Amino acid sequence: MNIKIALLNGDGIGPEVNKQAVKVLQAVAKVFNHQFEFKEALVGAIAIDETGNPLPDATLEICKASDAVLFGAIGDPKYDNDPSAKVRPEQGLLKLRKELGLFANIRPIKAYKTLLDNSPLKKSIIEGVDMVIFRELTGGIYFGEKTISSDGKTASDLCEYSDYEIERVAHLAFQSAMKRNKKLTLVDKANVLETSRLWRKVVTEISKSYPNVVLDFLFVDNAAMQMILNPKQFDVIVTENMFGDIISDEGSVIGGSIGLLASASIGLDKALFEPIHGSYPQGKGKNIANPVAAILSASMLLDHFGLTIEAEAVRFAVEATIENNIVTPDLNAVRNFGTDYVGDTIANVILNKSALNSSNQDNINFGKSVLI
Ligand code: IPM
Ligand code: MG
Repeated sequence: MNIKIALLNGDGIGPEVNKQAVKVLQAVAKVFNHQFEFKEALVGAIAIDETGNPLPDATLEICKASDAVLFGAIGDPKYDNDPSAKVRPEQGLLKLRKELGLFANIRPIKAYKTLLDNSPLKKSIIEGVDMVIFRELTGGIYFGEKTISSDGKTASDLCEYSDYEIERVAHLAFQSAMKRNKKLTLVDKANVLETSRLWRKVVTEISKSYPNVVLDFLFVDNAAMQMILNPKQFDVIVTENMFGDIISDEGSVIGGSIGLLASASIGLDKALFEPIHGSYPQGKGKNIANPVAAILSASMLLDHFGLTIEAEAVRFAVEATIENNIVTPDLNAVRNFGTDYVGDTIANVILNKSALNSSNQDNINFGKSVLI
């Protein structure tokens, strides 16, 4: 298969982790006889520095002409600490999501057996957790009208949803639940918000087309608590943009490091793959960033194009590498390896150059795509 991939490395550790994802995809291309063509483009703070625009037109064009986007990370403290900045790196990512119509953000959360002790949560609580969050990505408060009064003392962000926006992400979530444990939880705030009441109505209506899926509802404050109290109860979660942003970061605690969590953002004809972690500017250039989230995002790219065996090979290699304690400092403060060494090891397992074995194959889900 020939896949054209726009490579948007972005800021901070983005370039370093994406480099490892590319390395791993190149190993997959070699072993399974595919052609992946990468085209680099600017995004985020580095794009502002060079062009004044966090998403230059040239970048958008490259993304539109590609089959998929591999995204690193964006963000820079010089913008985070300046609320008056008119142009911000994050605008680049938000505009990209909107322009490419990436309405569903899929974030799998899993507790790796070998890393159970890494989580601040008790082993008994997280062992066996395997859930996926479907976050609506192009609507809600993120994209509603924003105002600030002329005296600068009053501001507003409008939260708006149409039935269509809810339907399309809900269908994806139901289809995923059908392939998994047939449970879907809608996270909302229907006791307060009108938009949440619309979500309940639309999702309940759609559930009639998926009679085998058990649908339940949780208010977001309770969901935030349940994610920590009893995360095993969740199979698939569907939720609006901002609630999804918040609970998916919370979910990363289960896996022991945010450096492990991958995501796919899917639209009708485009898809983007990115680690859920940020740009970690303090770690930039130190060869300490965990490349696993970027590499697992690349495995979701393979899944998206139906290359399930290839995606499994990547997940197996990641698992074997973690199990053999070849991990970055976020996962082992005492005995650890560099970003590129971890990436090399994962690529070498795929290339069969490394004899690492994994006994924990239950974490890998052979024959089962993590995407729908
Ligand atoms: C994420 C990030 C983004 C978001 C930021 C960088 C705009 O937190 O992808 O979760 O809020 O969506
Ligand atoms: Mg976030």
